[in-house]
Amino acid sequence: MDDLAELLTSDREYLMLGGGNPAKIPAVIERYRHCLQAVARDNDTFYRHVGLYGEPGGAGALILALQDQLNSRYGWNLDADNIVLTNGSQNAFFLLFNLLAGPASGQQRKIVLPLAPEYIGYEDVAIHQSFFVSNRPLIDITDDHRFKYHIDFDSLTIPGDAGAICVSRPTNPTGNVITDKELTGLDSLARENGIPLIIDNAYGEPFPDIIHSDVSLDWHNNIILCMSLSKLGLPALRTGIIIASREITALIRRMNSIINLTPGSLGPAMLAPLFASGEILSLSREHIRPFYRAKAERALACFDHNMAGLPAFAHVPEGAIFLWLWFRDLPIDSETLYQRLKERGVIVVPGHYFFPGMDKSWRHCHECIRISYATDDSNVQRGIELIAEEVKKAYITS
Ligand SMILES: Cc1ncc(COP(=O)(O)O)c(C=O)c1O
Repeated sequence: MDDLAELLTSDREYLMLGGGNPAKIPAVIERYRHCLQAVARDNDTFYRHVGLYGEPGGAGALILALQDQLNSRYGWNLDADNIVLTNGSQNAFFLLFNLLAGPASGQQRKIVLPLAPEYIGYEDVAIHQSFFVSNRPLIDITDDHRFKYHIDFDSLTIPGDAGAICVSRPTNPTGNVITDKELTGLDSLARENGIPLIIDNAYGEPFPDIIHSDVSLDWHNNIILCMSLSKLGLPALRTGIIIASREITALIRRMNSIINLTPGSLGPAMLAPLFASGEILSLSREHIRPFYRAKAERALACFDHNMAGLPAFAHVPEGAIFLWLWFRDLPIDSETLYQRLKERGVIVVPGHYFFPGMDKSWRHCHECIRISYATDDSNVQRGIELIAEEVKKAYITS
């Protein structure tokens, strides 16, 4: 993070393949601009959302629209009390993890990550002491330059002091989408152990719908489903959504009122009409998903071309906005590769940061990097060329 701050103020131009910003999709951004103008045009609406504190659970119009859309699409039985808004889903995970595993849970508990690599943003959220335990995945090499992770249920144990199981689906950093069968397995484990299953759906369906594999989404009282407006292209609005049992949402509302007083309401006010009409779902399906799918395909083609002859693999990009690259038996670690790439003007994220709760002695943690393909294709292409050059050098000279 310190490095990123330094890069943002540096005079040097870098190829930024490191961050998690969504892409700028012109037709979609234009639609949001109209939504903002509509809020600004109406005196009462504008004043209510910039001049007054809102409710601790977040703006009601978005919550009601979400309730209607999700119930009619999935046949769930949500009422408005099952939904609470937060200032982004990063904020939601801070609240949830500390609630379920921190001292507030009555004792220090564990958050079980059934498969790492996992989202970097979970790592440091514990107020007291770190609470993650994570499990090594099974690695399935599916093609010359492709692989996929699976949950290793044989080695997955849920400790007696577990507070929750959590998984991102699609996963940041890998683009993995755990299968329905894997999700059902986790659901059963959570119920058997009397703990909730948290699903981080920041990239999932029905919005922003950056998911390319055919899987289903379920919710019931033991699932805590987290969503966000960020990957729709609106990270600056800081709006996260938690869908959970009433007991959990009541606690999050209380935590919101202490930590935030209320979540910001401008984003929810802007987006509520798009949710109420269902347009957000068509924007996701017709613009956002195909946009990222095409970008992923172009990035992969470039990767395959440049990595020919190397033991280099990309995780099958089933969703999200990243390529997760694995250089098998790489003679240098991913931190050194990161530093060398920075010298060459390209910024990636070294892989070892994505293994929260895992002993980093596993060599695989140091053989991977994450790149984002949300930026311009020319940047992605040039970045991959430079990565290939540095990786070749490392294999040859070591
Ligand atoms: C898997 C995942 N979860 C949560 C977040 C946090 O998103 P936000 O706080 O912007 O909603 C991100 C951001 O990159 C993410 O990739």
